[in-house]
Amino acid sequence: MAASGNVPRMRLEQSHRTERFGAVRIHELQRVIELDSGDVAGDRGRGLVSQEDIRAVERDMVVVIPCMNETRRVIEGVLSGIPHDCLIVLVSNSGRQPVDRYEIEAHTVEQFCWSADRPAITVHQRDPGLAAAMKAAGMPELIDESGLIRTGKGEAMLIGMAVAALTGRRYVGYVDADNYVPGAVHEYCKVYAAGLHLADSPYPMVRISWHSKPKLRDGRLFFSRRGRSSEITNGFLNRLIAEYSGFGTEVIATGNAGEHALSLDLGLRLRLAGGFAVEPYEYVDLFERFGGILDTDSPEVMAHSVPVLQVETRNPHFHDNKGEEHVQGMRMQALNVLYHSPVCLPAVREAILEFMIDQGALSPGAEPPRERVYPPVGSLAFDLLYDTLEAEAGTFRQIGDGGIVRSRIPRHPVSPAPAG
Ligand code: GDD
Repeated sequence: MAASGNVPRMRLEQSHRTERFGAVRIHELQRVIELDSGDVAGDRGRGLVSQEDIRAVERDMVVVIPCMNETRRVIEGVLSGIPHDCLIVLVSNSGRQPVDRYEIEAHTVEQFCWSADRPAITVHQRDPGLAAAMKAAGMPELIDESGLIRTGKGEAMLIGMAVAALTGRRYVGYVDADNYVPGAVHEYCKVYAAGLHLADSPYPMVRISWHSKPKLRDGRLFFSRRGRSSEITNGFLNRLIAEYSGFGTEVIATGNAGEHALSLDLGLRLRLAGGFAVEPYEYVDLFERFGGILDTDSPEVMAHSVPVLQVETRNPHFHDNKGEEHVQGMRMQALNVLYHSPVCLPAVREAILEFMIDQGALSPGAEPPRERVYPPVGSLAFDLLYDTLEAEAGTFRQIGDGGIVRSRIPRHPVSPAPAG
C-alpha cells in the first residue's frame, strides 16, 4: 500500500529479500531509517508510512501489557509511551499479599486514563472469575490444579488476545511492563502500526529486534547488540529453515521477540505456548500450520501469505535484568518447543540435544520436556467469555468508554476446530 497525504511519515528500510517457508514469508531485518521522515515531497521508494495510515492502524489496535511485580513508576512510563488511540489491556500476575500490587497497578492505569482521557482494561491472571470465564468459553487447559489460570507470560498473552478479540479491534500488539524507556515503547508501537500497514495480507506479524541493550561494564555504558537467549533461538530456527531449503540462512532475527504485533485474523488461528516458549513457538506454529509440510486447517490463510516483518528499532532496550537462570530457562523453553515440533528435522533435533547436554541442561539419553501448547484463541465462545467475566471476575475492570462494545463481540468461534 502506498503512503498517502502530505503529513509526517515514518520511514522503514525497504526489505528486498524474503525467505519462504510455505505460505510464511519472512522478511529480512529492516531498520527504522527515520522515526519521523517529515513532509517529504514525492515518494522515493517504499517503506514510507504516513501518520494518517499509522493512526488508522492504532485506532484498530489493542496493546497488551503482561505485568508481574513491576515497579509502578516504570509501568507509568510504559503507559505514557503507548499511542493514544491504542486500547491498553493490562494483564497482571502480580502478588496480592501482603500488599495488593494489582490494586496499585489498576489504580495507576485508572489515574493515567483519567489524565489522558482514554480507556483501558485491566484483569488479574489469578482471578477465579477469569478461570471460570476461560473454562466456560472452552479452554479448560489453561487452568491449573488450584483451579486458577496457570502462571506464565504466554498465558497472560493469551488472555490479552482473548480480551482484544472481545473489543472487535483488528490488531493486537504486546509490550513488556518492565521497560524503562517510554520512547522505546512508543517506537515499538509506531513500528507495529507502520509494519502492519505495509504488510500486504490480512495475516501479518511484525516483530521487533531492538538495536541494543545498555549494560554497565567497568563503569562504562556498553551497548550490546543481541539478547542472551536470542542468538541461540534464532540459530536453531534458521537451521531448521536451512535444512529444508538446502541453503544456510540468518533470516530469523526475532525468535524471542517479546515485542511484536499481529492481526487478530492471524492471532486467533495460532496456538500459543505457555511461559516464555510463547514467542519462539509463534514461528514454530506458523511453520506447522502454514508451512506447507503438514496439512493445514486454514486454506484461506494459505491462499494469501503470512508476512513476518522484522524491524530493528532505534531506541535502546533498557529493562529489568532478571538474572542468568531466568535467561537459561527462557532459552531452553524455546528449544523444547522446536525439538518437539513435527516439522523439526532429525539433524536439528540432534543438534538441539547436543547443545542442551553441553549446557548441562539435559542428561544424556533424556528427552527435553514438552511445553504447554493451547488451542487457538479463536476457538473460544466469546459471548460466554464476556458474560462470565462480567459476572464473576472482580478484577476485570473496564476504564472509560471505548473498550468492549457488546455488539462487536465475535458471536461464534472464529477459527476452525482447535488443532492437536
Ligand atoms: N501477567 C504476567 N504473568 N506477566 C508476566 C508473567 C506472568 O506469569 N511473567 C512475566 N511477566 C511479564 C513481566 O512482568 C514483564 O513485563 C514481561 O512479562 C516480560 O517478562 P520478563 O520476566 O521481564 O522477561 P525478560 O525481560 O527477561 O524477557 C523478555 O524479553 C525476551 C526477549 O528478549 C520477554 O518479553 C520474553 O518473552 C522475550 O523472549
